Amino acid sequence: MATAILGMQWGDEGKGKITHLLAREADMVVRYNGGPNAGHTVIDRGEKFGIHLLPMGCFYRDARCVLASGMVIDIPILREEYGLIANHLKWEPEIVIAENAHVILPYHRLLEELEGGGARIGTTRRGIGPAYRDKVARVGIRADDLLYPVRLRKKLAQKISILKRAWPGSPELSSLSTDLLAKDLLASAEPFLGSIRNAIPIIAQALNRGENVLFEGAQGALLDLDFGTYPFVTSSSTTFAGLGNAIGIPLPQIDCRVGVMKAYTTRVGRGPFPTRITDKLGDFLQQAGNEFGVTTGRPRDCGWLDLVALKYAVALNDPTTLAITKLDVLSGLDEIRMCGAYQLEGRETNTFSGSAEQLALCEPIYESISGWKEDIRGVTDYESLPRAARAYIERISQELQAPIGIVSTGPSPEETINISFDRY
Ligand code: IMP
Repeated sequence: MATAILGMQWGDEGKGKITHLLAREADMVVRYNGGPNAGHTVIDRGEKFGIHLLPMGCFYRDARCVLASGMVIDIPILREEYGLIANHLKWEPEIVIAENAHVILPYHRLLEELEGGGARIGTTRRGIGPAYRDKVARVGIRADDLLYPVRLRKKLAQKISILKRAWPGSPELSSLSTDLLAKDLLASAEPFLGSIRNAIPIIAQALNRGENVLFEGAQGALLDLDFGTYPFVTSSSTTFAGLGNAIGIPLPQIDCRVGVMKAYTTRVGRGPFPTRITDKLGDFLQQAGNEFGVTTGRPRDCGWLDLVALKYAVALNDPTTLAITKLDVLSGLDEIRMCGAYQLEGRETNTFSGSAEQLALCEPIYESISGWKEDIRGVTDYESLPRAARAYIERISQELQAPIGIVSTGPSPEETINISFDRY
Protein backbone atom coordinates (compact mmCIF):
# COMPACT_ATOMS: atom_id res chain seq x y z
CA MET A 1 0.00 0.00 0.00
CA ALA A 2 1.39 3.40 -0.94
CA THR A 3 0.43 6.64 0.75
CA ALA A 4 1.36 10.19 -0.18
CA ILE A 5 1.34 13.12 2.24
CA LEU A 6 0.52 16.37 0.48
CA GLY A 7 0.40 19.93 1.79
CA MET A 8 -2.83 21.70 0.83
CA GLN A 9 -1.88 25.31 1.66
CA TRP A 10 1.32 27.40 1.67
CA GLY A 11 3.31 24.84 3.63
CA ASP A 12 3.51 24.54 7.42
CA GLU A 13 0.26 22.56 7.51
CA GLY A 14 1.61 20.15 10.13
CA LYS A 15 2.78 17.48 7.69
CA GLY A 16 5.63 16.65 10.08
CA LYS A 17 3.32 15.38 12.82
CA ILE A 18 1.03 13.53 10.40
CA THR A 19 3.92 11.88 8.55
CA HIS A 20 5.56 10.93 11.85
CA LEU A 21 2.28 9.27 12.90
CA LEU A 22 1.74 7.40 9.64
CA ALA A 23 5.41 6.42 9.44
CA ARG A 24 4.85 4.10 12.43
CA GLU A 25 3.21 1.65 10.06
CA ALA A 26 5.61 2.25 7.16
CA ASP A 27 8.21 -0.10 5.77
CA MET A 28 9.70 2.72 3.76
CA VAL A 29 9.40 6.52 3.90
CA VAL A 30 10.40 8.51 0.84
CA ARG A 31 10.93 12.26 1.01
CA TYR A 32 10.54 13.41 -2.56
CA ASN A 33 10.92 17.17 -2.99
CA GLY A 34 12.55 20.31 -1.68
CA GLY A 35 15.47 20.51 0.67
CA PRO A 36 16.33 22.14 3.99
CA ASN A 37 13.79 24.89 3.28
CA ALA A 38 11.28 22.49 4.83
CA GLY A 39 10.96 22.30 8.58
CA HIS A 40 8.90 19.40 9.84
CA THR A 41 8.12 19.67 13.53
CA VAL A 42 7.77 16.37 15.34
CA ILE A 43 7.60 15.25 18.92
CA ASP A 44 9.23 11.85 19.23
CA ARG A 45 9.31 10.08 22.58
CA GLY A 46 8.63 13.42 24.27
CA GLU A 47 11.44 15.30 22.52
CA LYS A 48 10.77 18.02 19.94
CA PHE A 49 12.65 18.12 16.62
CA GLY A 50 12.62 20.40 13.59
CA ILE A 51 13.54 18.06 10.74
CA HIS A 52 14.66 19.53 7.43
CA LEU A 53 15.91 16.68 5.27
CA LEU A 54 15.50 13.24 6.80
CA PRO A 55 12.28 11.37 6.03
CA MET A 56 10.12 10.77 9.11
CA GLY A 57 10.74 7.04 8.89
CA CYS A 58 14.09 7.80 10.51
CA PHE A 59 12.37 7.59 13.90
CA TYR A 60 11.37 3.95 13.42
CA ARG A 61 13.84 1.10 13.31
CA ASP A 62 11.86 -0.94 10.76
CA ALA A 63 11.37 1.85 8.23
CA ARG A 64 13.92 2.41 5.49
CA CYS A 65 14.30 6.05 4.47
CA VAL A 66 14.85 7.34 0.96
CA LEU A 67 15.86 10.85 -0.03
CA ALA A 68 14.54 10.78 -3.59
CA SER A 69 15.80 12.41 -6.74
CA GLY A 70 13.37 15.34 -6.55
CA MET A 71 15.26 16.67 -3.53
CA VAL A 72 18.15 19.08 -3.22
CA ILE A 73 20.35 18.00 -0.33
CA ASP A 74 22.66 20.10 1.81
CA ILE A 75 25.15 17.50 3.00
CA PRO A 76 26.46 19.28 6.16
CA ILE A 77 22.85 19.90 7.28
CA LEU A 78 22.01 16.25 6.63
CA ARG A 79 25.03 15.15 8.63
CA GLU A 80 24.11 17.32 11.59
CA GLU A 81 20.49 16.20 11.52
CA TYR A 82 21.45 12.54 11.20
CA GLY A 83 23.81 12.81 14.16
CA LEU A 84 21.10 14.43 16.27
CA ILE A 85 18.55 11.75 15.46
CA ALA A 86 21.00 8.85 15.87
CA ASN A 87 21.96 10.26 19.26
CA HIS A 88 18.30 10.56 20.28
CA LEU A 89 17.45 7.04 19.10
CA LYS A 90 20.72 5.36 20.10
CA TRP A 91 20.81 3.61 16.72
CA GLU A 92 21.54 4.69 13.17
CA PRO A 93 18.59 4.97 10.77
CA GLU A 94 18.95 3.24 7.40
CA ILE A 95 18.94 5.77 4.59
CA VAL A 96 19.23 5.70 0.82
CA ILE A 97 20.18 8.85 -1.06
CA ALA A 98 19.09 8.85 -4.71
CA GLU A 99 22.19 9.03 -6.85
CA ASN A 100 20.54 11.66 -9.04
CA ALA A 101 19.40 13.96 -6.21
CA HIS A 102 21.16 17.32 -6.41
CA VAL A 103 23.52 18.75 -3.84
CA ILE A 104 23.30 22.27 -2.40
CA LEU A 105 26.69 23.96 -2.23
CA PRO A 106 27.80 27.02 -0.26
CA TYR A 107 27.79 29.11 -3.46
CA HIS A 108 24.05 28.48 -3.89
CA ARG A 109 23.35 30.26 -0.63
CA LEU A 110 25.79 33.05 -1.57
CA LEU A 111 24.07 33.50 -4.92
CA GLU A 112 20.67 33.73 -3.27
CA GLU A 113 21.95 36.63 -1.16
CA LEU A 114 23.75 38.36 -4.04
CA GLU A 115 20.79 38.15 -6.38
CA GLY A 116 18.35 39.36 -3.73
CA GLY A 117 15.95 36.44 -4.28
CA GLY A 118 15.59 36.06 -0.54
CA ALA A 119 14.38 39.59 -0.08
CA ARG A 120 12.24 39.71 -3.23
CA ILE A 121 10.32 36.49 -2.68
CA GLY A 122 10.98 35.97 1.01
CA THR A 123 12.78 32.65 0.52
CA THR A 124 14.24 30.58 3.33
CA ARG A 125 17.78 31.50 2.13
CA ARG A 126 18.88 27.88 2.02
CA GLY A 127 20.11 28.05 -1.60
CA ILE A 128 17.08 26.15 -2.88
CA GLY A 129 16.37 28.24 -6.01
CA PRO A 130 20.01 28.42 -7.19
CA ALA A 131 20.46 24.65 -6.64
CA TYR A 132 17.37 23.75 -8.68
CA ARG A 133 18.43 26.30 -11.29
CA ASP A 134 21.79 24.51 -11.68
CA LYS A 135 19.90 21.24 -12.11
CA VAL A 136 17.85 22.71 -14.96
CA ALA A 137 20.89 24.42 -16.46
CA ARG A 138 22.72 21.05 -16.33
CA VAL A 139 25.57 22.37 -14.25
CA GLY A 140 24.47 20.84 -10.93
CA ILE A 141 26.40 18.49 -8.68
CA ARG A 142 24.53 15.24 -8.06
CA ALA A 143 24.88 12.82 -5.19
CA ASP A 144 26.70 10.25 -7.32
CA ASP A 145 29.39 12.84 -8.15
CA LEU A 146 30.44 12.47 -4.51
CA LEU A 147 31.49 8.90 -5.27
CA TYR A 148 34.01 10.04 -7.89
CA PRO A 149 36.29 12.76 -6.47
CA VAL A 150 38.08 13.46 -9.76
CA ARG A 151 34.79 13.95 -11.59
CA LEU A 152 33.49 16.05 -8.69
CA ARG A 153 36.52 18.37 -8.76
CA LYS A 154 36.20 18.78 -12.52
CA LYS A 155 32.54 19.76 -12.30
CA LEU A 156 33.14 22.08 -9.36
CA ALA A 157 36.04 23.76 -11.17
CA GLN A 158 33.83 24.41 -14.21
CA LYS A 159 31.05 25.85 -12.10
CA ILE A 160 33.41 28.00 -10.01
CA SER A 161 35.04 29.43 -13.09
CA ILE A 162 31.60 30.41 -14.46
CA LEU A 163 30.75 32.03 -11.12
CA LYS A 164 34.00 33.99 -10.97
CA ARG A 165 33.46 35.35 -14.46
CA ALA A 166 29.83 36.27 -13.72
CA TRP A 167 30.52 37.90 -10.33
CA PRO A 168 33.95 39.60 -10.54
CA GLY A 169 32.97 42.06 -7.80
CA SER A 170 32.06 39.45 -5.20
CA PRO A 171 34.91 38.74 -2.76
CA GLU A 172 33.15 35.58 -1.47
CA LEU A 173 32.73 34.08 -4.96
CA SER A 174 36.14 35.26 -6.20
CA SER A 175 37.85 33.49 -3.32
CA LEU A 176 36.12 30.11 -3.89
CA SER A 177 38.60 27.28 -4.18
CA THR A 178 37.69 24.03 -5.92
CA ASP A 179 40.06 22.01 -3.75
CA LEU A 180 38.74 23.39 -0.50
CA LEU A 181 35.11 23.04 -1.54
CA ALA A 182 35.62 19.45 -2.70
CA LYS A 183 37.58 18.59 0.46
CA ASP A 184 34.89 19.98 2.79
CA LEU A 185 32.08 18.38 0.82
CA LEU A 186 33.71 14.95 0.72
CA ALA A 187 34.53 15.13 4.42
CA SER A 188 30.88 15.84 5.34
CA ALA A 189 29.57 13.27 2.87
CA GLU A 190 31.91 10.50 4.02
CA PRO A 191 29.39 8.66 6.30
CA PHE A 192 26.77 8.70 3.53
CA LEU A 193 28.82 7.46 0.58
CA GLY A 194 27.53 3.90 1.01
CA SER A 195 23.95 5.22 0.99
CA ILE A 196 24.13 6.80 -2.46
CA ARG A 197 22.24 4.41 -4.74
CA ASN A 198 19.87 4.18 -7.67
CA ALA A 199 16.65 4.69 -5.68
CA ILE A 200 14.19 3.77 -8.42
CA PRO A 201 14.43 -0.06 -8.14
CA ILE A 202 14.56 0.22 -4.35
CA ILE A 203 11.25 2.10 -4.23
CA ALA A 204 9.74 0.03 -7.04
CA GLN A 205 10.58 -3.25 -5.33
CA ALA A 206 9.02 -2.10 -2.07
CA LEU A 207 5.85 -1.12 -3.95
CA ASN A 208 5.78 -4.37 -5.93
CA ARG A 209 6.12 -6.39 -2.74
CA GLY A 210 3.07 -4.57 -1.38
CA GLU A 211 5.03 -2.92 1.44
CA ASN A 212 3.72 0.16 3.20
CA VAL A 213 5.49 2.97 1.40
CA LEU A 214 4.91 6.51 2.59
CA PHE A 215 5.76 9.40 0.29
CA GLU A 216 6.46 12.48 2.33
CA GLY A 217 5.90 15.82 0.61
CA ALA A 218 7.41 19.11 1.69
CA GLN A 219 5.88 22.59 1.32
CA GLY A 220 2.30 22.86 0.01
CA ALA A 221 0.28 23.01 -3.20
CA LEU A 222 0.21 26.82 -3.25
CA LEU A 223 4.02 26.90 -3.23
CA ASP A 224 4.29 24.61 -6.28
CA LEU A 225 6.68 25.97 -8.87
CA ASP A 226 4.17 25.64 -11.70
CA PHE A 227 0.77 25.84 -10.03
CA GLY A 228 1.42 27.89 -6.89
CA THR A 229 1.21 31.66 -6.47
CA TYR A 230 4.08 32.34 -8.87
CA PRO A 231 6.60 33.93 -8.41
CA PHE A 232 6.11 33.56 -4.64
CA VAL A 233 6.68 29.83 -4.78
CA THR A 234 9.43 27.36 -4.11
CA SER A 235 11.50 25.80 -6.88
CA SER A 236 10.12 22.25 -6.85
CA SER A 237 6.88 20.42 -7.58
CA THR A 238 4.93 20.20 -4.36
CA THR A 239 1.74 18.61 -5.72
CA PHE A 240 0.69 15.05 -6.40
CA ALA A 241 1.35 15.55 -10.11
CA GLY A 242 5.00 16.25 -9.35
CA LEU A 243 5.46 13.15 -7.23
CA GLY A 244 5.93 10.65 -10.08
CA ASN A 245 8.64 12.71 -11.65
CA ALA A 246 10.36 13.24 -8.33
CA ILE A 247 10.74 9.51 -7.71
CA GLY A 248 10.68 7.96 -11.18
CA ILE A 249 7.70 5.67 -10.51
CA PRO A 250 4.33 5.83 -12.31
CA LEU A 251 1.69 7.54 -10.18
CA PRO A 252 -1.28 5.13 -10.30
CA GLN A 253 0.38 2.91 -7.71
CA ILE A 254 -0.16 5.54 -5.01
CA ASP A 255 -3.69 4.91 -3.90
CA CYS A 256 -3.97 6.75 -0.57
CA ARG A 257 -3.37 10.50 -0.73
CA VAL A 258 -3.54 12.38 2.56
CA GLY A 259 -4.10 16.11 2.07
CA VAL A 260 -2.85 17.90 5.18
CA MET A 261 -4.44 21.27 5.99
CA LYS A 262 -4.38 23.57 8.96
CA ALA A 263 -7.75 24.59 10.48
CA TYR A 264 -6.87 28.15 9.43
CA THR A 265 -4.35 29.52 6.95
CA THR A 266 -0.76 30.70 7.39
CA ARG A 267 1.86 32.03 5.03
CA VAL A 268 5.48 32.88 5.53
CA GLY A 269 7.59 34.81 3.07
CA ARG A 270 6.07 37.27 0.65
CA GLY A 271 3.17 37.10 -1.80
CA PRO A 272 -0.61 37.65 -1.80
CA PHE A 273 -2.73 36.11 0.95
CA PRO A 274 -6.41 37.10 0.57
CA THR A 275 -7.65 35.86 3.96
CA ARG A 276 -4.77 37.32 6.01
CA ILE A 277 -6.03 38.74 9.34
CA THR A 278 -4.41 42.09 9.94
CA ASP A 279 -5.78 42.93 13.38
CA LYS A 280 -4.94 41.53 16.81
CA LEU A 281 -6.79 38.31 16.10
CA GLY A 282 -3.97 37.50 13.67
CA ASP A 283 -1.48 38.01 16.52
CA PHE A 284 -3.60 35.79 18.75
CA LEU A 285 -3.50 32.93 16.22
CA GLN A 286 0.23 33.46 15.70
CA GLN A 287 0.90 33.11 19.42
CA ALA A 288 -1.66 30.39 20.14
CA GLY A 289 -0.51 28.35 17.15
CA ASN A 290 3.19 29.09 17.72
CA GLU A 291 3.32 30.24 14.11
CA PHE A 292 7.04 30.83 13.73
CA GLY A 293 9.07 29.16 10.98
CA VAL A 294 10.96 26.02 11.97
CA THR A 295 13.69 26.74 9.43
CA THR A 296 14.03 30.51 9.72
CA GLY A 297 12.15 31.50 12.88
CA ARG A 298 10.17 34.05 10.85
CA PRO A 299 6.66 34.84 12.13
CA ARG A 300 3.96 33.41 9.89
CA ASP A 301 1.04 35.59 8.88
CA CYS A 302 -2.27 34.05 9.92
CA GLY A 303 -5.68 34.13 8.27
CA TRP A 304 -9.05 32.45 7.97
CA LEU A 305 -9.64 29.26 6.08
CA ASP A 306 -9.70 29.90 2.35
CA LEU A 307 -11.99 27.38 0.65
CA VAL A 308 -11.29 28.83 -2.80
CA ALA A 309 -7.59 28.07 -2.40
CA LEU A 310 -8.29 24.70 -0.80
CA LYS A 311 -10.58 23.61 -3.64
CA TYR A 312 -7.76 24.46 -6.02
CA ALA A 313 -5.37 22.35 -3.92
CA VAL A 314 -7.92 19.51 -3.94
CA ALA A 315 -8.00 19.64 -7.74
CA LEU A 316 -4.19 19.51 -7.83
CA ASN A 317 -3.69 16.81 -5.21
CA ASP A 318 -6.87 14.71 -5.43
CA PRO A 319 -6.70 13.69 -1.75
CA THR A 320 -8.50 10.50 -0.77
CA THR A 321 -8.62 11.76 2.82
CA LEU A 322 -7.86 14.98 4.68
CA ALA A 323 -5.94 15.57 7.90
CA ILE A 324 -6.92 18.79 9.69
CA THR A 325 -4.30 20.12 12.08
CA LYS A 326 -4.27 22.70 14.88
CA LEU A 327 -8.03 22.66 15.43
CA ASP A 328 -7.33 23.38 19.11
CA VAL A 329 -5.82 26.77 18.21
CA LEU A 330 -9.27 28.08 17.21
CA SER A 331 -10.76 27.38 20.67
CA GLY A 332 -12.13 30.42 22.48
CA LEU A 333 -13.28 32.35 19.40
CA ASP A 334 -16.91 33.55 19.25
CA GLU A 335 -17.03 33.22 15.49
CA ILE A 336 -14.95 31.56 12.83
CA ARG A 337 -14.85 32.84 9.30
CA MET A 338 -14.54 30.88 6.09
CA CYS A 339 -13.87 32.38 2.70
CA GLY A 340 -16.06 30.69 0.06
CA ALA A 341 -15.51 33.13 -2.83
CA TYR A 342 -13.55 36.22 -3.83
CA GLN A 343 -14.64 39.60 -5.08
CA LEU A 344 -12.51 40.37 -8.14
CA GLU A 345 -12.94 43.54 -10.20
CA GLY A 346 -16.58 43.91 -9.18
CA ARG A 347 -17.46 40.26 -9.79
CA GLU A 348 -17.78 37.31 -7.48
CA THR A 349 -15.55 34.39 -8.36
CA ASN A 350 -14.66 31.07 -6.84
CA THR A 351 -11.77 30.40 -9.16
CA PHE A 352 -8.32 30.49 -7.59
CA SER A 353 -5.63 32.06 -9.67
CA GLY A 354 -2.03 30.94 -9.42
CA SER A 355 -1.08 34.38 -10.73
CA ALA A 356 0.16 36.42 -7.79
CA GLU A 357 -0.86 39.67 -9.52
CA GLN A 358 -4.46 38.47 -9.98
CA LEU A 359 -4.69 36.97 -6.49
CA ALA A 360 -3.52 40.26 -4.99
CA LEU A 361 -6.68 41.87 -6.40
CA CYS A 362 -9.01 39.32 -4.78
CA GLU A 363 -11.03 40.34 -1.72
CA PRO A 364 -12.36 37.48 0.40
CA ILE A 365 -16.11 37.03 0.81
CA TYR A 366 -16.68 35.52 4.23
CA GLU A 367 -19.30 33.44 5.90
CA SER A 368 -19.35 33.35 9.70
CA ILE A 369 -19.97 30.23 11.67
CA SER A 370 -20.09 29.69 15.43
CA GLY A 371 -16.88 29.13 17.32
CA TRP A 372 -16.52 27.16 20.53
CA LYS A 373 -15.28 28.17 23.97
CA GLU A 374 -14.10 24.80 25.29
CA ASP A 375 -10.39 24.01 25.33
CA ILE A 376 -10.10 20.98 23.03
CA ARG A 377 -6.35 20.49 23.34
CA GLY A 378 -5.58 16.81 23.53
CA VAL A 379 -9.09 15.55 22.68
CA THR A 380 -8.78 12.10 21.10
CA ASP A 381 -12.40 11.17 20.54
CA TYR A 382 -14.41 12.82 17.79
CA GLU A 383 -17.69 12.73 19.73
CA SER A 384 -16.04 14.65 22.61
CA LEU A 385 -15.48 17.70 20.42
CA PRO A 386 -17.92 20.58 20.91
CA ARG A 387 -20.78 20.55 18.44
CA ALA A 388 -19.47 23.73 16.73
CA ALA A 389 -16.04 22.15 16.19
CA ARG A 390 -17.64 19.09 14.63
CA ALA A 391 -19.82 21.31 12.45
CA TYR A 392 -16.69 23.14 11.25
CA ILE A 393 -14.93 19.89 10.34
CA GLU A 394 -17.99 18.46 8.63
CA ARG A 395 -18.47 21.63 6.65
CA ILE A 396 -14.86 21.49 5.43
CA SER A 397 -15.34 17.88 4.38
CA GLN A 398 -18.54 18.77 2.54
CA GLU A 399 -17.01 21.77 0.78
CA LEU A 400 -13.87 19.91 -0.26
CA GLN A 401 -15.74 16.71 -1.10
CA ALA A 402 -13.24 14.61 0.80
CA PRO A 403 -13.49 12.62 4.03
CA ILE A 404 -11.56 13.77 7.10
CA GLY A 405 -9.37 10.95 8.40
CA ILE A 406 -7.35 12.72 11.07
CA VAL A 407 -7.91 15.75 13.28
CA SER A 408 -4.97 17.02 15.28
CA THR A 409 -5.70 18.69 18.63
CA GLY A 410 -2.14 19.37 19.78
CA PRO A 411 1.47 18.90 18.72
CA SER A 412 2.07 15.52 20.42
CA PRO A 413 1.30 12.29 18.61
CA GLU A 414 -1.21 11.37 21.33
CA GLU A 415 -3.20 14.57 20.73
CA THR A 416 -4.91 13.17 17.67
CA ILE A 417 -8.39 12.04 16.63
CA ASN A 418 -8.50 9.21 14.12
CA ILE A 419 -11.79 9.27 12.31
CA SER A 420 -12.96 6.23 10.44
CA PHE A 421 -12.54 7.00 6.76
CA ASP A 422 -16.15 6.14 5.92
CA ARG A 423 -17.70 8.62 8.36
CA TYR A 424 -18.98 10.93 5.61
P1 IMP B 1 12.56 28.75 -0.96
O1 IMP B 1 11.88 27.43 -1.02
O2 IMP B 1 13.52 28.90 0.17
O3 IMP B 1 13.16 29.13 -2.28
O4 IMP B 1 11.43 29.86 -0.66
C1 IMP B 1 10.39 30.17 -1.59
C2 IMP B 1 9.07 30.41 -0.88
O5 IMP B 1 8.61 29.18 -0.33
C3 IMP B 1 9.15 31.39 0.28
O6 IMP B 1 7.92 32.09 0.37
C4 IMP B 1 9.30 30.48 1.48
O7 IMP B 1 8.85 31.08 2.68
C5 IMP B 1 8.40 29.34 1.06
N1 IMP B 1 8.73 28.06 1.71
C6 IMP B 1 9.71 27.19 1.37
N2 IMP B 1 9.70 26.14 2.18
C7 IMP B 1 8.68 26.31 3.03
C8 IMP B 1 8.15 25.53 4.09
O8 IMP B 1 8.59 24.41 4.40
N3 IMP B 1 7.08 26.08 4.76
C9 IMP B 1 6.53 27.27 4.41
N4 IMP B 1 7.01 28.03 3.43
C10 IMP B 1 8.07 27.56 2.75
